[in-house]
Amino acid sequence: MATEMAQTEPEGIDGVRMTWNSWPRTKVEASKCIIPIASSIQLLRPFPDLPTLPYAPLRCKTCSSILNPFCRVDFQALIWICPFCFQRNHFPQHYSGISETNVPAELYPQFTTIQYAIQNPGGHNSPPVYLFVLDTCMLDEELEFAKSALKRVIGLLPDYAMVGFISYGTQVQVHELGFSDMSKVFVFQGSKDLSKDQVLDQLGLGSISGRKVVGGGVGVNGGPNHGLTRFLLPASECEYTLDSLLDELSTDQWPLTPGNRASRCTGVALSVATGLLGACLAGAGARIVALVGGPCTEGPGAIVSKDLSEPVRSHKDLHKDAAPFFKKAVHFYEELAKQLVSHGHILDVFASALDQVGVAEMKIAIEKTGGQVVLAESFGHSVFKDSFKRVFEVGEQSLGLCFNATLEINCSKDIKIQGIIGPCTSLEKKGPAVSSTVTGEGNTTAWKLCGLDKNTCLTVFYDVSSSEKSDPSGNINPQLYIQFLTSYQSPDGQTKLRVTTITRRWLDAGVGTEDLVQGFDQEAAAVVMARLASYKMELEEDFDPTRWLDRNLIRLCSKFGEYRKDDPASFTLNPCFSLLPQFMFHLRRSQFLQVFNNSPDETAYFRMLLYRESISNAVVMIQPTLMAFSFNTLPSPALLDVASIAADRILLLDSYFSVVIFHGMTIAQWRNLGYQNQPEHQAFAHLLQVPHDEAQALIQERFPVPRLVVCDQHGSQARFLLAKLNPSATYNNANDMAAGSDVIFTDDVSLQVFFQHLQRLAVQSS
Ligand SMILES: *[C@@H]1O[C@H](CO)[C@@H](O)[C@H](O)[C@H]1NC(C)=O
Ligand SMILES: *[C@@H]1O[C@H](CO)[C@@H](O)[C@H](O)[C@H]1NC(C)=O
Ligand SMILES: *[C@@H]1O[C@H](CO)[C@@H](O)[C@H](O)[C@H]1NC(C)=O
Ligand SMILES: [Zn+2]
Repeated sequence: MATEMAQTEPEGIDGVRMTWNSWPRTKVEASKCIIPIASSIQLLRPFPDLPTLPYAPLRCKTCSSILNPFCRVDFQALIWICPFCFQRNHFPQHYSGISETNVPAELYPQFTTIQYAIQNPGGHNSPPVYLFVLDTCMLDEELEFAKSALKRVIGLLPDYAMVGFISYGTQVQVHELGFSDMSKVFVFQGSKDLSKDQVLDQLGLGSISGRKVVGGGVGVNGGPNHGLTRFLLPASECEYTLDSLLDELSTDQWPLTPGNRASRCTGVALSVATGLLGACLAGAGARIVALVGGPCTEGPGAIVSKDLSEPVRSHKDLHKDAAPFFKKAVHFYEELAKQLVSHGHILDVFASALDQVGVAEMKIAIEKTGGQVVLAESFGHSVFKDSFKRVFEVGEQSLGLCFNATLEINCSKDIKIQGIIGPCTSLEKKGPAVSSTVTGEGNTTAWKLCGLDKNTCLTVFYDVSSSEKSDPSGNINPQLYIQFLTSYQSPDGQTKLRVTTITRRWLDAGVGTEDLVQGFDQEAAAVVMARLASYKMELEEDFDPTRWLDRNLIRLCSKFGEYRKDDPASFTLNPCFSLLPQFMFHLRRSQFLQVFNNSPDETAYFRMLLYRESISNAVVMIQPTLMAFSFNTLPSPALLDVASIAADRILLLDSYFSVVIFHGMTIAQWRNLGYQNQPEHQAFAHLLQVPHDEAQALIQERFPVPRLVVCDQHGSQARFLLAKLNPSATYNNANDMAAGSDVIFTDDVSLQVFFQHLQRLAVQSS
């Protein structure tokens, strides 16, 4: 049944969604499509009946793509023809038993996604490695929350997982866990930018054995490298030591002068952690799990001065180039990212503070390594607590953290790859499929993902090149092929290779646009445009995303709409496109474009999740869903419009990062009077409860855990709902609205006005 589900969802078993499912053959035609050709792929999409083959894959001798259901097979001659390069390959001896009725699994038509178990180097499974880095510049209460979350999580780790611990405040303390009765600590000054060698020397790992970096398979006992027996130990051996160490750990003791921020050296702490892991476990799957409670103010990576009268940088400051710490800190994290990626290690950041901690500066290191990031207000808040637990849980709820992955893409000859937006790093592997246009991590056909999980999605951007003949036989092949090869270390330490091969149709030249139109995926298109707009905002200083989106949408409507020139009333849009204007309307108003309403840390956080989530999840980030609950009707979807607010209704808004339960005025009054507690008002009690149950269901299956906001009409928290609604009733036309609805005081145009403008501009003869 699970397989059926996977197949009926738009992602299918391959986890792939494309903006266009029929591809134009030439560059010129592709540019007429306006929305770029791109695919989103969920690399490790869970698929319960996914076959894992215990043998090595067969590769094409010319292009090294892997045998797949789209290969033509001659069972008599025992030959398979590669759909990528048309090479004829002989099956090896051990395939000699195959026939039409005895086909190996990798040729089954339904197994377009399949997995191979790869022999691990050295023959044993690699243990996952967690180096916890804990900020101690916090209030007692916060530190207690963080400590108990850590203890709980260490208890969840499998016995063979390797664990290390670093705490920091004004200084960095590396805790040696190899001694159970006497705790030994190595202290680093927080103000100094240390080189990797200085770190290792100080830890006593700089000697001959320490410099010998272990490559590839690392045994549990670590062989000759004594760093592994001192700082990183199997959870089963150090859980007790760590527990008592955490019990004794207190907040940073450095005296705090009034009017000053705590002196917190997050940068040096992460630098030391990176050096330690690099020296002990380069090439093995390992993650730095950092719990950060405030901004870095000391040493490299500082984002603000200690003087509290100086606020942490805002978007305005960044825009005016008035954030003196920003560029330097970003540069520091760029360098850290390079080190981490070269060792295959991950940086996870769990930031919990009322103020910003510097996620905007750390973003590059989190993203390039495929790390997890969670932003919360407190270590006691469920957004942190439940998300943190989810990362380490096992079973159905588990994120399925995987390590040390490489993605390679092969494609039909006329396809070039511009690059990838998402949590990965280019491996700069050149090849014929590399496009000269770069989008995201480009210039390559191979990418490193130090960390990924079952939800991780990447967006690949393509170019088509216009050579006429694809097949040496002279036939033009009507199908195009793309193969995604992901090798990775699974949570249980095994190395696996997942192969997904997909095919789509080339559009026949001369055929009208009907095939093209039918193959358009509006949700994928909306998400790709959101990702591109955000990416361009990060990259190009003077980029105007609203103008860019509007211009593309107008061009799209001119191209694919039906209308008489200069007659806006005659405009209609094919159903295949009809949702896109609305998506673009909400995107224009979203946190992705209106960044000035948020802090740079929040924007960085929203973007990282936008880049890595599935299309269905990302659509909710752009255009939230709204459900209405009232007496005598079933819960039903409601328009994302202020007109949906009514005094006797409860609304449930899911905007991905938060879930809002909004009580209409009358409902709130009845609740305040306690009607739900009276036996004759059971129906009311039920009405109050149902939205909470629905909200819990949403929260439970999402990572990071969203913030739950429960509010009443006209209450201060109501803005969480109002900000997402179409302001169909503004003060300009408030008189037209039904009684009981709300009014948004805003100058934003409404969806209706937006549509009117769009139609007028689309039909304009240029
Ligand atoms: C990590 O990946 C690299 C590149 O694919 C590989 O050479 C190395 O052996 C892997 N490490 C482990 C421990 O499997
Ligand atoms: C397929 O990938 C391999 C390895 O990345 C590369 O050498 C080869 O040229 C690619 N072939 C095609 C047809 O893209
Ligand atoms: C792509 O690679 C070429 C040659 O290796 C290099 O000169 C160029 O700077 C790279 N471009 C980007 C955007 O990385
Ligand atoms: Zn081939």
